[in-house]
Amino acid sequence: MHYLDHAATTPLRPEARDAWLAASELVGNASSTHGAGQDARRILEESRERVAAVLDADPIEVVFTSGGTESINLALQGLWHARADGTDGIVLPDAEHHATMDTVAALAADGAFVRAVPVRADGSISSSDFAERLPGAALATALVANNEVGTINDAPSLTSAAASAGTPLHLDAVAALGHLPLSFRNLRGAADAGTGLVALSVAGHKIGAPVGVGALVVARTAKLTALLRGGAQQRGLRAGTQDVAGAVAFATAIELAEQEREGESLRLGTLRDRLVSGIRSRVPAAELLGAPRDRLPGNAHLLFPGAVGESLLFLLDVAGVAASTGSACQAGVAEPSHVVIAMGRDEKDARSVLRFTLGRTSTEADVDAVLRAIAEAYVRASGSGTGARS
Ligand SMILES: Cc1ncc(COP(=O)(O)O)c(C=O)c1O
Repeated sequence: MHYLDHAATTPLRPEARDAWLAASELVGNASSTHGAGQDARRILEESRERVAAVLDADPIEVVFTSGGTESINLALQGLWHARADGTDGIVLPDAEHHATMDTVAALAADGAFVRAVPVRADGSISSSDFAERLPGAALATALVANNEVGTINDAPSLTSAAASAGTPLHLDAVAALGHLPLSFRNLRGAADAGTGLVALSVAGHKIGAPVGVGALVVARTAKLTALLRGGAQQRGLRAGTQDVAGAVAFATAIELAEQEREGESLRLGTLRDRLVSGIRSRVPAAELLGAPRDRLPGNAHLLFPGAVGESLLFLLDVAGVAASTGSACQAGVAEPSHVVIAMGRDEKDARSVLRFTLGRTSTEADVDAVLRAIAEAYVRASGSGTGARS
């Protein structure tokens, strides 16, 4: 199988698996005071230090979670419930991940006012549009890089706008992790206590750690209400016995991803460019969506006019290629991508897209497999009942 869906999840790294399995043999609870508990505690805190070092944060700022969705929920619900008196509204760009869109929708159903920020045709957030909506808002959120179309936002401008406006900001760095340099300290800058960048979400399974571990980096001065209540673990922000094995696997994966990042960016960018130009020479109607230059190196997101994305996906799967439409599937039916619609395309176009994402294990052979299959798949997925699943 040729796996071109690394943005959904990427294969477990052997080093992370080994660290995970070794730590899973430990018997102690990291909160226990006996020797076994203290051994577990030491590995846990070392892992926190290693993750903090890569993200350029203080270890105490790293709160381990179960992944991106939990981190985002903790950040958005936590900031909303702890909002400062006199603030109102949530600044929400139109092309965020569903974990963000749906969390904000739930807060809106409870009375929060949404200050929507349109995105540009390439999926990017305009820093000035974002900045305009910040003053007086209870909180703001934004993607560092868009997980569907790969467009990279200007995170330093967004964070400095939030710092100037005195608004707490959460960044979703789940898609950016392992591909872009991330310094929590630099992005936070000299923002006043509790304002500017206060929280940043990451997930382990996007960089070769197991599914089920992630982190929310939370500035020391952030005011955040916990989602889970119980023990006082992790500054009281995330109660519950801590997952030492997950933490050490995440630390192992994030260090390796960071060591490889620059070389991999170049390699994947080259492979991706060959994939895009190869597809466009076989299917001239295909159009690359998202920013041409400021995009994640492994992301190729294409519109195939007139074709049903789901049918393309199915035909490629039969040809041994795993790709994605990039958007959510509700009850087995693909939704049109809200990201593509936010970029100004109609619903039909939003159902005619495919996302190929490359990663650590991607090779020329994976690209070749797509190029062998794409022209015929396009013809069949555009035809009427020619075998493509509709
Ligand atoms: C940008 C972004 N945010 C959040 C998430 C959710 O993360 P998780 O699947 O770890 O819950 C994803 C996962 O695809 C993502 O790409």
